[in-house]
Amino acid sequence: MTAAPTLPLANRRILLVIGGGIAAYKALDLIRRLRERGASVRPLLTKGAQEFVTPLAAAALAGQPAHTDLFDRADEAEIGHIKLARDADAVVVAPATANLMARMATGHAPDLASTVLLATTLPILIAPAMNVAMWAHPATRRNLATLLADGVRVVGPNAGPMAEPETGPGRMAEPAEIADAAAAMLGEAEAKTAGFGFLAGRAKAAGPLVGRRVLVTSGPTHEPIDPVRFIANRSSGRQGHAIAAAAAAAGATVTLVSGPVAIPDPEGVAVVRVETAREMLAAVEAALPASIAVFTAAVADWRPATETGSKIKKAGAAPAPLTLVENPDILATIAGRTQNRPALVVGFAAETDTVIAHAQAKIARKGCDLIVANDVSAAGGVMGGATNTVHLIAHDGSVETWPTLDKDEVARRLVARFSELLRG
Ligand code: C5P
Repeated sequence: MTAAPTLPLANRRILLVIGGGIAAYKALDLIRRLRERGASVRPLLTKGAQEFVTPLAAAALAGQPAHTDLFDRADEAEIGHIKLARDADAVVVAPATANLMARMATGHAPDLASTVLLATTLPILIAPAMNVAMWAHPATRRNLATLLADGVRVVGPNAGPMAEPETGPGRMAEPAEIADAAAAMLGEAEAKTAGFGFLAGRAKAAGPLVGRRVLVTSGPTHEPIDPVRFIANRSSGRQGHAIAAAAAAAGATVTLVSGPVAIPDPEGVAVVRVETAREMLAAVEAALPASIAVFTAAVADWRPATETGSKIKKAGAAPAPLTLVENPDILATIAGRTQNRPALVVGFAAETDTVIAHAQAKIARKGCDLIVANDVSAAGGVMGGATNTVHLIAHDGSVETWPTLDKDEVARRLVARFSELLRG
């Protein structure tokens, strides 16, 4: 994981709301991670959470009492739910169940956790964790959109195996990732005024994409060969992440499905972390419907036909045999959908030669509406670099070439163009 950014969490007070899901056990580890970085943690467990972890365990790890009940006389006398909602620097909800997200989104407050979340004016970070189908349900998508618009920060969920025999986005982000996200949130909050000013600063009241959902893929995929080796493309994720950030800044509700990258999550965006192409496809499908889908990820075209559970050994001088099978083409799959096809499907074409001709062929092959083509030959320094020179190829084959620009500026201009195209 990333090195601990200790500063933003040192001496900060975190109110940790633990929701009722199997991932609650990871909230105990989160308490330790937050404290390791210098934060103090006050745990608050919902009734459901107490089915999975005990208040005693949370209190022991936190080194302070755990709160559990709205009408706990001792609590009300000593602290009170309003004070609980104020007496911290930030609120972290982990795991944030579908139920808890629904209560937060609607302001329904039947218990202590939801009352505190309604009463607080502090920055809030949620780490959703739920079954894949619950995460993909339109009700949860609506609630997520509401929470993002309210200024709530979201970390995860990650894709991968779940408690049920299913895989897909729904696993709670790892404790270290949640601690990183909390640190980033506090770092940003420091620069802004606390209280409602903070929330208002996050509300997306303006911008051409208000009310629109945007889906962006970014980064590489990793296709495991064995536990220590994988196949991947070179990709920093910078351009994709910048597009997600620009879409959020334009008012959209953004889901960013990202392969493994070493850059921070963009602000105000729900990030689903995946490793493989197949996980990326599942996460993309779970994030639909969307008005715009932008496929920036450098997906590995092939994966090993089999993944061995133990490290493949060198066998004399001969290289280990590796049989590859083709990965699903995520862009072509989504562009070819008859139901729930985003109104605007945008692909990228990273080419090292005859950039435009290749991109013109690609737009027809993939069935997308627009291709953003760039030259990634070593001379251009695009890979991992800060600038990009792109050509926009439309469905009729017409080409528009932009000057070399900062990747953030490319992202802003692309998002402005997408909004225009959407309006027709
Ligand atoms: O075929 P090629 O990899 O050059 O196509 C690039 C475009 O297709 C990019 O937008 C990339 O994100 C997308 N893609 C995909 N799934 C794949 C391969 C590429 O979504 N398996």
